[in-house]
Amino acid sequence: MENETNELFPAGIENTLSTYREDFVRENLMSDAFLDFVEENTKPIDRMFAYYQCAIMEVETKFKVLDESLSVDLERNPIESIKTRVKSVDSLLRKMRRKNIPLTLDAIEENIKDVAGVRVICSFPDDIYELADAFLSQDDITLIEKKDYIKEPKPSGYRSLHLIVEVPIFLKDEKKNMKVEVQFRTIAMDFWASLEHKLHYKHDLPEERAKVLADELRNCAEQIEMLDLRMQAVRNECNL
Ligand code: GTP
Ligand code: MG
Repeated sequence: MENETNELFPAGIENTLSTYREDFVRENLMSDAFLDFVEENTKPIDRMFAYYQCAIMEVETKFKVLDESLSVDLERNPIESIKTRVKSVDSLLRKMRRKNIPLTLDAIEENIKDVAGVRVICSFPDDIYELADAFLSQDDITLIEKKDYIKEPKPSGYRSLHLIVEVPIFLKDEKKNMKVEVQFRTIAMDFWASLEHKLHYKHDLPEERAKVLADELRNCAEQIEMLDLRMQAVRNECNL
């Protein structure tokens, strides 16, 4: 068996492959034709990313305004923190490959709904719904999709409220509607999701161990749900 493997992959194959890869990059990705193509197309791509960044700024400001205005009645800030990101080019390309999306900017805008992402972290579960309702009732926000993984958690134990919305951005001489994914979570749900996300990138775990840890995380997610509700009950009883 060992001999067969050695014959299939003779010594030095790694070097041959690496030379082949370098030749491929030089001849294709560094060719004049490809570099001309990149130069011609970078401006529209940069523009698209800039528009998504503008949409993020619009949405983030809306949540800052809501946080400030709700804090007067609540006597506390419902939002703990806001995190934003524009999807990286490599993860955008991976998603286009996975979903077989045509290689055009229009196709990206139409089909990839999470190029712009805003994560709103709240202290208590009911703040999430109050903020989401207030945000969605604004007349320039159009709801495209809603997934409530708090009421119906994912099999992994993942909990969050996801909205895909369209928000207008006002440019020099046009108004453009951009899609933004908004994820609402409590601090505890966010803590859980960060750790669980890291586990996905641990490819060196034996299968059996990975299964045990996934079960453990599912169990933690249930405890986190109880903890969130108990904390909320304490807050409600004491009017905090
Ligand atoms: P894609 O966006 O194509 O992945 O599928 P989808 O549109 O069905 O997305 P979904 O609403 O399921 O989730 C979108 C985002 O939510 C992901 O990019 C993650 O940020 C987060 N998410 C969803 N499921 C999980 C999960 O099980 N664990 C963690 N840590 N995050 C998750
Ligand atoms: Mg998505």
